[in-house]
Amino acid sequence: MTLPPSDKALVPFVSVNNMMRLVHHIGLETMLRDLTAYIEADFKRWERFDKTPRVASHSEVGVIELMPTSDGEAYGFKYVNGHPKNTSEGLQTVTAFGLLADVYTGYPVLLTEMTLLTALRTAATSAMAARALAPRGADTMAMIGNGAQSEFQTLAMKAILGLKQVRLFDVDPEATTKCARNLQNQGVEVVTCRTPEAAIEGAQILTTCTADKQLATILTDNMVGSGVHINAIGGDCPGKTELAKGILDRADVFVEFPEQTRIEGEIQQMDPEFPVTELWQVLTGAAEGRTSAQQITLFDSVGFAIEDFSALRYIRDQIRETAFYEELDMLADPDDPRDLFGMLQRAG
Ligand SMILES: NC(=O)c1ccc[n+]([C@@H]2O[C@H](COP(=O)([O-])OP(=O)(O)OC[C@H]3O[C@@H](n4cnc5c(N)ncnc54)[C@H](O)[C@@H]3O)[C@@H](O)[C@H]2O)c1
Repeated sequence: MTLPPSDKALVPFVSVNNMMRLVHHIGLETMLRDLTAYIEADFKRWERFDKTPRVASHSEVGVIELMPTSDGEAYGFKYVNGHPKNTSEGLQTVTAFGLLADVYTGYPVLLTEMTLLTALRTAATSAMAARALAPRGADTMAMIGNGAQSEFQTLAMKAILGLKQVRLFDVDPEATTKCARNLQNQGVEVVTCRTPEAAIEGAQILTTCTADKQLATILTDNMVGSGVHINAIGGDCPGKTELAKGILDRADVFVEFPEQTRIEGEIQQMDPEFPVTELWQVLTGAAEGRTSAQQITLFDSVGFAIEDFSALRYIRDQIRETAFYEELDMLADPDDPRDLFGMLQRAG
C-alpha cells in the first residue's frame, strides 16, 4: 500500500510557469530592485560565505557548471550550462535550476527553475556594479549582444540607475529586432545600430553580452574612450573573452571572486598578478570605486555563486503564503528514520 508523502518529504518547487507568474505578480522592475538589494546585502557580508570557483565540466561545445556556497545557515547551489551553439539548434545558450537547503538538517527547502532567475540576478548584479562604478549621471548604454540576457540587462539599468537610452547592436540583426520589439513601451528610448562603433556613441555604460566560445574582440582598444563604465558579461569561461587586452591595461578592473575570475573572466588574458578590486569591498567602503570622471571602470562579470544564493533566498522569502509553488515529493521519509528498506517494502 502506498501512503501519501508526509510533510517532511515535501520540498517547495517553483516551475518556470510559476516563476513567470511570480515575476508578473511582483512586477519586473520591482523584482530587479529587490534582487539588487538581496545581492548587495550578501556582498556586504561576503566574509561569512564559503567561497570556491565553480566546478566546471568543459566540452568542445560548451560548459556545465555547479555553483555552491553557504553562509552557515543556508546552503545553495545552481546547475547552469553555457552552450553558444545552442541557439542555432533552437535551444538556449544558458539554462539553470537551483536548490536551497537548511544547513542544520541538510534538508532542501527550495528547488526552483533558474533560467529566468539567472537572467534577473545577472542583470541585478550588473546594475549594482554600475551604480557603484559608472560615471555620475550615466543614462545611456550600448548593449552589444542582443540575446536572451539583453532586455533584462537594460531594464535593470533603468530600474536601478535611471537609464534613459539603450543603443543596440548584434551581429545578427534579427536579435536586435527582437530586443528592440521587447523593449518597446518599457520607458527606455531604443536606438538600433548597424555597427558596434555606432552603438557606443555617446554611451557612458558599455555592456558586452555576446556568446561565442572563443577569444573574441567585441570592443577594440581604440573604441573605448575615457570616462566610461564597461559591464562585460559574456566572457565567462576559459578561452571565451570579449575585450581587447589594451582596454584592460587602461581600465580599473572590478571582479566578484578573483580566484574564479582569473580563470574565466576578461583578466584570463592578463598575468596572475594583474591588480583587481573585489566589488564587495567597494560596496562596504573598504576599497575605492570610481575616483575620477576620466577613469575607465570595468566590471569583469563572470557570475558568482553568492548572487544565486541571494536569488534563491529572495524566492524562498517571496513564495511564502502564495500559490506560486508546488510541493514536490522529493525526500524519502520513513516513519522510523532507520527503516528506509521497510518503507520501500511496504510500498510493494
Ligand atoms: N556574467 C554572468 O553572470 C553571465 C550570466 C548569464 C550569461 N552570461 C553570458 O552572457 C552571454 C550572453 O548570454 P545570452 O543568454 O544572452 O546568449 P544568447 O546566445 O541568447 O545571445 C548572445 C548574442 O550575442 C550575439 N553575438 C555573438 N557574437 C557577437 C559579436 N561578435 N558581436 C555582437 N553580437 C554577437 C549573438 O548573435 C546573440 O544574439 C553568454 O556568453 C553567457 O555565457 C554571463
